[in-house]
Amino acid sequence: VRHLLYDDYSEGAHPAILDAIREANSGQEMGYGHDSHSALAARRIIGALGVDADVQFVSGGTQANLIGLAAMLRPHEGVVAAQTAHINVNETGAVEATGHKVITLPSADGKVTAAMIDEACALHTDEHTVKPRVVFLSQATERGTVYSVDELHALVDHAHRVGLLVYLDGARLAMAVAAWSPSMLHDLAALGVDVLYIGGTKNGGLFGEALVLCNPAIRTDFRYIMKQRGGLLAKGRAIGAQFARFFADDGLWLKLGADANASAHRLGTGLAAAGIELVQPVVTNQVFALLDDAVVEPLSRQFGFYVWERRGDGQSVVRLVCSWATPDEAVDEFIAAASPVAGSR
Ligand SMILES: Cc1ncc(COP(=O)(O)O)c(C=O)c1O
Repeated sequence: VRHLLYDDYSEGAHPAILDAIREANSGQEMGYGHDSHSALAARRIIGALGVDADVQFVSGGTQANLIGLAAMLRPHEGVVAAQTAHINVNETGAVEATGHKVITLPSADGKVTAAMIDEACALHTDEHTVKPRVVFLSQATERGTVYSVDELHALVDHAHRVGLLVYLDGARLAMAVAAWSPSMLHDLAALGVDVLYIGGTKNGGLFGEALVLCNPAIRTDFRYIMKQRGGLLAKGRAIGAQFARFFADDGLWLKLGADANASAHRLGTGLAAAGIELVQPVVTNQVFALLDDAVVEPLSRQFGFYVWERRGDGQSVVRLVCSWATPDEAVDEFIAAASPVAGSR
């Protein structure tokens, strides 16, 4: 196989991140995130967001989501999400396993709308149903789309007006911010997202995500909830050092997100020029392309990618994920191999 485009996990860490871990390796530090690297990382994240917040680090995205949501929900409460949401489709029921229903509604582009929030509330009105309490947003979404600041503003306002909190899954937040504007980071916290998760693993980190608790009410006993759910990493410096490096003055975190987006744009533009339909405009680092089934099989012997949807009409949607490390040559080779003229038919 020439190159893997399965997901954002086919690379190791960016060399600067690995250096940061190596540098943080020597010397003694307190355990469980009480180390100087985690403290520096938290200060830098708070500086980038421009809000007062508590920042905690966990090792992975599923863990971030189930811990963040567990801290926001009482036993009878549920979380409203798009049907495509990662917590609904790809986390083995981890949120439900903590006792909280994921209330899902259909969404073509992966986004939640105010109408969806209203519909979820209208369907859950009394003690015989779960009580909607949190709206789960992904930025970027699982479809690679991005909420604008105006959209987010309206959604957060609406959710709060109807008594719901907002959780934002930012596994690919760097790509979303890079696609929009660096000021989005500032705006996110300012417009009242209650809990925000900033992704590191998909963006050149070795592992680790930052949970940013903007709403003070969510901070109570948060570390108890982390510990009980296996999320309190003993050698916390390993994540702290990575996030301190991501949010150092050279803006590495955002640069890597922009690099991933640039590769995806190159790929999307090339495929479209070759006459291949993209089912979703390329905004971040994911490309969803419609390929003939006859092309998919030979192509999958050369490149790693997931078939996202089998249409049953001789065509399938494939998902192609680029990362900060995707070489242009691999992108160009994929375009040539998939192209109806020059390719493998
Ligand atoms: C939107 C979103 N959230 C969270 C995650 C994190 O999941 P994991 O548990 O694999 O780190 C992913 C990974 O694919 C994702 O796409």
